[in-house]
Amino acid sequence: MSSAMERYDSIIIGAGAAGLYAAFHAGRRGRRVLLLEHNAEVGAKILISGGGRCNFTNLHAAPDRFISANPHFARSALARHTQHDVLALIQKHRITHYEKTLGQLFCDGARSSQKIVRMLLDECAAANVDIRTLYRINAVQRSDRFVVDTMMGAFESATLTIATGGYPIPKLGATGFAFDIAEQFGIPVIETRPGLVPLTFADSDLAWMRPLSGVSANVIARAGKASFREAALFTHRGLSGPAVLQASSYWRIGESISIDWLPDAPEDALAARKRERPKAQLKTVMAEFMSERLATALLQSWTAGILAGETPAVQEIGAFKDSALIDLMRSCKSFTLTPNGDEGYAKAEVMVGGVDTNALSQQTMEARAVPGLFFIGEAVDVTGWLGGYNFQWAWSSGWAAGQVI
Ligand code: FDA
Repeated sequence: MSSAMERYDSIIIGAGAAGLYAAFHAGRRGRRVLLLEHNAEVGAKILISGGGRCNFTNLHAAPDRFISANPHFARSALARHTQHDVLALIQKHRITHYEKTLGQLFCDGARSSQKIVRMLLDECAAANVDIRTLYRINAVQRSDRFVVDTMMGAFESATLTIATGGYPIPKLGATGFAFDIAEQFGIPVIETRPGLVPLTFADSDLAWMRPLSGVSANVIARAGKASFREAALFTHRGLSGPAVLQASSYWRIGESISIDWLPDAPEDALAARKRERPKAQLKTVMAEFMSERLATALLQSWTAGILAGETPAVQEIGAFKDSALIDLMRSCKSFTLTPNGDEGYAKAEVMVGGVDTNALSQQTMEARAVPGLFFIGEAVDVTGWLGGYNFQWAWSSGWAAGQVI
């Protein structure tokens, strides 16, 4: 039966960032590589990433910017194939780019993420990678070699690499295929959940949050031990924006998050203003630190909790004791909120959890218990921060496998 099958050295399933990257690195080594993708086109997430400009890496990529049950796992691949190696490839292909903020490197120009897909396809073509799209996988088997049975025939190979990503954005073709294969081969999976995802709130919170929909503020968002100083954005269902997306990856259902709405103001800032301008209205002074709508909402929230119905917004700041003003500042600087959920995989930029790294070699991404089987990219329990880190993991892990498959 196997003699009728097409034979390859390496089969890779999933032609996203990690799969394409692994494919051409293996192909460059003279390996005969087959890359199977069920979508009609490769790299769907690359195309929509970074608002169409693909934030392809981060200058500050380092292991501490990744979440994993085993925080040391990503070290080897990230150190052996770095953001500078990726940048060299981008430069070789003359793709213009810029640093947006916080080390985040984006392609330059509307829909410029197409150039990243083009680059990957050109590298695959130069390395003779056989890419087949619209191939649905029926089953995978292993004896002395791997056999991949598809709707359009079976293929066999010495190694099989699973690069099918995680659950986010099912409408782009995301599946749990990697976890089905892990289960088939007895490889453990760390519980998965949406990451880099907007957080939602109960109606009681939305009563004050919803009128602020569209308002953004520079904040520090904290979840567990993690804290992120970036923008937060009110949505009609709760909170989003980079700081909240980052915190969401560390947040678990039932836990609270804390927001510092005034990261630049010390606790005694209002008391100091009181001495300078005691006749000024409290709300006016608050609005010097943040948008007026947010100042009003935070004052109302503080009022409800502390002053039981009084309306300090119309009162002169001089009417308040210093201790009350410091208390108000404290409540703005460690404002505790308990999300009732998140917007799920339909809106998540990434998945937290995945194939347990303890079951994989950190040098090669090969499953320890199943020689020849590799997992790379988002399918693995390594999740980056917002800002190009997730693509860097796809490139680094793809490169690591590409050296040996
Ligand atoms: P990826 O999901 O890219 O690829 C998996 C491939 O496998 C897909 O082509 C899929 O169709 C295919 N596949 C799935 N199941 C299959 C099956 N059963 N059979 C065959 N093929 C199958 N990150 C970043 O660093 N910078 C950024 O700017 C952004 N922006 C961004 C925006 C949005 C809206 C999202 C949703 C995500 C991002 N990300 C990001 C995250 C980034 O896109 C993600 O981490 C990588 O694409 C992961 O690369 P992988 O190759 O592992 O999976």
